[in-house]
Amino acid sequence: MTTILHLDDSWALDGISRDRLDLAGSEAASQLQALLRRAGRGAEYTGWLDLPVATTPDMVAHLKGTAAELQDRSDIVVVCGIGGSYLGARAGIEFLNSARSSGATPEMLFLGNSLSPWHLSRTLDKLVDRRFSVIVISKSGTTLETALAFHVLREELRRRYGPEGARERMVAVTERGRGTLRPLAEEDGIPAFDMPVDVGGRYSVLTAVGLLPLAVAGFDISAVLESAARQRSEVIEARFQDNDALRYAAARRLLNSEGRQVELFADFEPFLHMLGEWWKQLFGESEGKDHKGLFPASVDYTTDLHSLGQFVQEGTPCLFETVVDVPAPVDLTFSCDVASPDGLSYLDGQTVAAMNRQAMLGTIMAHHDGGVPVLRISLPDVTEGTFGAAVYFFETACAVSGYMLGINPFDQPGVEAYKRNMFALLGKPGTEAEGTALHARQSGPVD
Ligand code: PA5
Repeated sequence: MTTILHLDDSWALDGISRDRLDLAGSEAASQLQALLRRAGRGAEYTGWLDLPVATTPDMVAHLKGTAAELQDRSDIVVVCGIGGSYLGARAGIEFLNSARSSGATPEMLFLGNSLSPWHLSRTLDKLVDRRFSVIVISKSGTTLETALAFHVLREELRRRYGPEGARERMVAVTERGRGTLRPLAEEDGIPAFDMPVDVGGRYSVLTAVGLLPLAVAGFDISAVLESAARQRSEVIEARFQDNDALRYAAARRLLNSEGRQVELFADFEPFLHMLGEWWKQLFGESEGKDHKGLFPASVDYTTDLHSLGQFVQEGTPCLFETVVDVPAPVDLTFSCDVASPDGLSYLDGQTVAAMNRQAMLGTIMAHHDGGVPVLRISLPDVTEGTFGAAVYFFETACAVSGYMLGINPFDQPGVEAYKRNMFALLGKPGTEAEGTALHARQSGPVD
């Protein structure tokens, strides 16, 4: 079986004994079986495992039909969501946009992913005199960042188009039978797609959460699902040695047990930046519990070689890198006269992509030689298929890695702490006593 994503661990695991490699390999394989048998922790949230094969043609057609309607009505589509209800779609759109010229489809903006008044008002400014629609994505409906932005956008749509016209310009993606967004959508007559109950936010890219924004942005969601299904077969069927997602999970755990506490996602293309953001949430929220887990961080090279490169090369030996590598979707050839005073004539005739590649190889070797283990994951191209496969690859690696760590990779109890305090400080009904206690704790500059 030929792999879609390819892992090179030769710059990371060269100091680890054969016995330890074999042990980690068999542990990863047995945790994969637990995941597939739905026998591990959080098994009630493993519906994502089957999404690439369980999503029906009718569902895909419905998503594409809704996307076409939004495209017709809009110059801009605002996607309102945060965390797992936002990052995957944005990662896919920024990745795939790099391979095409803009203009054919609506501009995609993202809101509801912070409480920044600056971001909210700047986004509203961009909507002036432009036709816009809104996709609101929230499994619970109670997430303040998303609910607030959606409230503002809904009011603006109603002001411009009246209740009926506003209804035609909104689509919700939310859970059925729970939460607050579904009843609101039903009351307003806003069409709504289901977020499956057995799929958590950060594992939901291959549901309407990721697929609807991707389709609106003009991408082929059938190709995303087909390739994710191929990656699923690889994960399920391949032996450990040929199963790169499993090998990645095992390598992370080995490097963590060797004392590495930070995993640095490193890309050499700005259009991979949001993939790094999605990856950070996937691994951070899945693994960071019970006082365990690798801290996931990210860098954009070569830019960050001129800011963080020094630390990576010679600073505290707390990290390893995972370089994510993809061929550039566009390229240009450099030309330079022999007599040019900047001394760049040795590069005459080389492509910039080739230079970037040599920079990547040079960085991998330098960091390795400085004692930093470097994993490299290669993506074959910038296509919908590669994006779908990458999503499934990282999701399974994350779940298996979490099981190997002994935690539940599908819950996020720690996210609630800030929300409780924030709601109490804001005076949400029912939180009065907590609010009084929190306000009493404040002194000095925090008010
Ligand atoms: O992965 C997760 O579960 C979280 O990041 C959620 O997606 C995020 O908190 C948003 O939640 P909701 O979709 O309920 O608004």
